[in-house]
Amino acid sequence: MKATALANSNIAVIKYWGKRDERLNLPANNSISFTMDDQLQTMTTVEFDSSMKEDVLELNHHPATSKETGRVTSFLDVVRRMAKIRTKARVVSKNSFPKSAGLASSASGFAALAGAASWAAGLHLSLRELSILARYGSGSASRSIFGGAVEWLAGKKKNGSDSYSVQISPPEEWVHLHNVIALVSESEKKVSSVEGMRRLKTSSLFKARLRTMDSRLKTARSAIKHGNFEDVVIPIMQDSDNMHAVMLDCWPPVCYLTDTSFEIMEKVLELNESHGKPVAAYTFDAGPNAHVYTTEKYAHEVERMLKYTDGVLRTLNCKIGKGIRFVNEDLF
Ligand code: PMV
Repeated sequence: MKATALANSNIAVIKYWGKRDERLNLPANNSISFTMDDQLQTMTTVEFDSSMKEDVLELNHHPATSKETGRVTSFLDVVRRMAKIRTKARVVSKNSFPKSAGLASSASGFAALAGAASWAAGLHLSLRELSILARYGSGSASRSIFGGAVEWLAGKKKNGSDSYSVQISPPEEWVHLHNVIALVSESEKKVSSVEGMRRLKTSSLFKARLRTMDSRLKTARSAIKHGNFEDVVIPIMQDSDNMHAVMLDCWPPVCYLTDTSFEIMEKVLELNESHGKPVAAYTFDAGPNAHVYTTEKYAHEVERMLKYTDGVLRTLNCKIGKGIRFVNEDLF
């Protein structure tokens, strides 16, 4: 009853921000992301052991905090209910990037945990079922089950059975795409995404965001399906700007961007201007770190530009990667 899975992080180009059901982690809108390469990867081994009195979690070679363990136990309870078992588990998880890097990702973490825990519990789920399971841990984790470009469907059903991710374009179609990441902060975010999304009920702009989602999703989906990066550059930046405007419209306001983030936005716009066409797109999650999508041809120029921006601690040049994998090598 031991299994190990690998899953990579993903960075959305059309963002998920807001839930239609908090308990089931059902999103208010579809979202689209690219799965990152193995530089942003989590490896997780799970073993259900009848001699254990409680779940034990080790993260990056250290015992987890009680908060971290609590979140994993709630997730394992879902797996135990599905497998009709009560056995406690040992979970050992390690990221390919340092935890302090400000890149800690619940997406790769819960996708790898969903794979390893379900397999160790004797459940042999389909990728769609794994995507639904990962969603319980963290919404964005549902997208990390697949590689390449992925769309997470919001679905309509109350029980969430139609809210899962699908691959819209395989990684082989995107070998020329890069995400150049500028690390601006290594500390944990001040407002968690759960808390940030709860505050959306105070925002009137959020309702307007939901009305404009479909048109951005349609443009992005179609450009990505046709392998056309240039057409998706502007919608990517607009969606990030729109999400951060909505965050600021909440009460109390949520503001993840810093002066350095705004400086990077400015520089990316200037870069596009100087090339006379859209060649790079910035996008920001719930934090100040910039993700700049661009193609092979401009990746070095973008990286140099980000490296020499005041406030950038370091850069990481990622490519597009694969979905979940099961491996024979265990972490204990
Ligand atoms: O998966 P969560 O609950 O950490 O939410 C992630 C939300 C964003 O990263 C801001 C956007 C997204 O679609 O990944």
